[in-house]
Amino acid sequence: MKIMQLKEAKRIEESLRNLTEEFIKEYPYYSTWIQKNEATFRDGTRVVYELNDNQKVVGYMMVHFSTTQCAKINGIYVFPDCQRKGYARKALLQILKELKILNYDYAFIQTCTHNKIVIHMLDTLNFNVIGYNYHNIEKQSNLVAVYDLKGEKNFDEMYTFAVQLYKGFSKN
Ligand SMILES: CC(C)(COP(=O)(O)OP(=O)(O)OC[C@H]1O[C@@H](n2cnc3c(N)ncnc32)[C@H](O)[C@@H]1OP(=O)(O)O)[C@@H](O)C(=O)NCCC(=O)NCCS
Repeated sequence: MKIMQLKEAKRIEESLRNLTEEFIKEYPYYSTWIQKNEATFRDGTRVVYELNDNQKVVGYMMVHFSTTQCAKINGIYVFPDCQRKGYARKALLQILKELKILNYDYAFIQTCTHNKIVIHMLDTLNFNVIGYNYHNIEKQSNLVAVYDLKGEKNFDEMYTFAVQLYKGFSKN
């Protein structure tokens, strides 16, 4: 399985439609959020990767290249009939490898506190849970985790970036 950056406008549109259809059940603002950030998909600040296994699309992952040091993994989605085959895990390992090559310091991700599958996956991949982000539209607290690409374990620096990246961030 490999992750492939989508560059063609039509493919990006298709992937966003797929992601929206999936996430809109849980996040009703998802389509408006995508519309609002449309330009960032064109200028490469946000990138959608296709998860491709032997020419078969098995899911998508969205990454926000937020600053020169920090990237945010905005979401990962594996089609229901392709789940539990290790695709999400492999996709995350590949993006972490790419971010290291690009000299990024941190990869951030947030997920609902009830998403036990993602929390388990992040734990086994050695992400550190560093706090919570109260999401104003979702009216709930999401868990914020970070992968330390430099391996320096400078938690003060991680907190400082988390405050900048997530409006509702708090350590507890
Ligand atoms: C979360 C999601 C991306 C995981 O994709 P996946 O390709 O099935 O995950 P993997 O096969 O790589 O499994 C990763 C780990 O989660 C576990 N896992 C995956 N699905 C599971 C399930 N339904 N129940 C229990 N554990 C599960 C796997 O056993 C594995 O753990 P292990 O390494 O200890 O064996 C997928 O379930 C999904 O698309 N869910 C809906 C969207 C979503 O919640 N996205 C996350 C937003 S941040």
